[in-house]
Amino acid sequence: MCGIMGYIGYREAQPLLIHGLRKLEYRGYDSAGIAVCDGEKIAVSKAKGRIDVLDQHVQKASLSGTMGIGHTRWATHGRPSDENSHPHTDETGKFVLVHNGIIENYLDIKEELSNEGIVFSSETDTEVIAHLLAKHYDGDLVAAVRQVAGKIRGAYALAVMSEYEPDKLVAIRYASPLIIGVGDNEKFIGSDIPAILEHTRDVYVMEDGDLAILTPDSLLLQDIDTGQPIDRKQIRIEWDKEQAEKDGFDHYMLKEIHEQPRSLRNTMAGRIDEAKREIAMPDLGLLPEAVKEIEKIYIVACGTAYHAGMIGKHVFESLAHIPVEVDVASEFRYRNPLFSQKMLTVVVSQSGETADTLAALREAQRNGSRVLAITNVVGSSIAREADYVITTNAGPEIAVASTKAYTSQVIAFYLLGLYFAQVKQTIAANEREALLHAMTQLPDQVEKILTHADEIRAYAASIKDESQMFFIGRGLDYAVSLEGSLKLKEISYIHSEAYAAGELKHGTLALIEEGTRVVALSTQAHLHEKMVSNITEIKARGAVVLGIALEDNMELHRSVDDVCLIPATHPLLAPILSVIPLQLISYYTAVALGNDVDRPRNLAKSVTVE
Ligand code: F6R
Repeated sequence: MCGIMGYIGYREAQPLLIHGLRKLEYRGYDSAGIAVCDGEKIAVSKAKGRIDVLDQHVQKASLSGTMGIGHTRWATHGRPSDENSHPHTDETGKFVLVHNGIIENYLDIKEELSNEGIVFSSETDTEVIAHLLAKHYDGDLVAAVRQVAGKIRGAYALAVMSEYEPDKLVAIRYASPLIIGVGDNEKFIGSDIPAILEHTRDVYVMEDGDLAILTPDSLLLQDIDTGQPIDRKQIRIEWDKEQAEKDGFDHYMLKEIHEQPRSLRNTMAGRIDEAKREIAMPDLGLLPEAVKEIEKIYIVACGTAYHAGMIGKHVFESLAHIPVEVDVASEFRYRNPLFSQKMLTVVVSQSGETADTLAALREAQRNGSRVLAITNVVGSSIAREADYVITTNAGPEIAVASTKAYTSQVIAFYLLGLYFAQVKQTIAANEREALLHAMTQLPDQVEKILTHADEIRAYAASIKDESQMFFIGRGLDYAVSLEGSLKLKEISYIHSEAYAAGELKHGTLALIEEGTRVVALSTQAHLHEKMVSNITEIKARGAVVLGIALEDNMELHRSVDDVCLIPATHPLLAPILSVIPLQLISYYTAVALGNDVDRPRNLAKSVTVE
């Protein structure tokens, strides 16, 4: 997730762009840049770091002109650096653009263009677009943009300008957000409303496949494919500034919960080869020969990332038949684990800076293990030091309670597990196909669950005065129970325990009494009868149970007080769906209690100390 901004009008573009980018910094903040056109020439200024660093640069450079584009970056392809910052240009510098999204086929395009002698100056996926524009330009910028759109695959919101046609900005959108703001003799482009809210409240929300041509006094919207004019409704934004930054949601956490369909798509983007129907890991660097040698895996992480790792264990063991141990990093680093050359250590960290996880990574490497990192922050310490990296591409997560980073980590495990299984030939083609098909349905299914958020809000209101809660499940459902329980305690401050359902009678059952609230997950058909027995045991002691099951489960409702059904999916993938109601339960409970949801007491987003 990055933020883009564009301006064309009568005012100096530079301060407007910098101001707009500051408002979009929540979308990414590892580097930033602007390009301004003075009517003839385009000047670019960009730098690694936050907008303040860019601001210092442009103060010195003083870019003058009334048309410009800007970008604040959250790295996906290529570490944060001056060269990888946007805007990107072709070799002549005449075509300049900013991009939010991921170009899935950029490696193929890059190879093709390199063979034609084009020299690339960054590691990004975006740069191919600038060179393609130069290649296809034949006196008509809009036509070139349309041609290039036909060649790139993936997600993109693009703002483009060219010295050849310094009277217009061109923007296109596919699967990444983009709005156009309309003022008097001026127009704005923004990834999001906060970027332009101080200048205009009249906007058009671009839809997939839309192309916009902006001049100070005109706006033309066309269909990218046909070039035919399209009609979109202008809307008036009534939000205040704070609401706008949260996209109209009351809290970042709720916004991030709702972003999951998109973040899941972004984690999968470019990693499923649609033609071959298999996993493609072009940027991983872990070659098939190396995968075949792996005899054991350690997964090491903290908190929510550790819970994602517990799902990773099931995934590697069931798909790739590799034994896995999962450990919390603060334990792993001090317990002298046994290593061998044929071992892979997988560390999981949203921030890529968690002190214990970083120490565990170093401990593993010191003992000769190669380390693969699953992280959301390109260029973080963990990303830099690991031997192999999968970036989750979930975009910045601002709320302390992790939601979208967790589901993206889990998806990363499915991709990795399938990749290993593919290489080791431990999965039949039809089973792989079933999983791939089901994975691509997950974003829509998450969307569907989110439409029932109000039912969960009602449940949350009913538990807000409880002093304790239990989450129970077996297998994958136990791993998700741990995550649901952690979410609830960290923001609602209600004491909660997650238990492997079969373990209850070995002690914890003593805590169940009349009215004890329990959430019981049963998404694994082969464990369903066992779960029903455990539920019966706790209900006999007075527990009030909310069951969570796949919608094809016709039986659970008979054993519980209330049931929350989620869309049917492959059992291995159920955690992505079953965690959504749990995230919502914790969110709405914390809201009902009046807690500071995004900044819960005693906690920090990034734990860089031991
Ligand atoms: C809980 C939460 C934490 C983090 C943990 C690890 O909602 O966010 O438990 O998961 O502190 O952080 P990262 O993933 O940044 O290493």
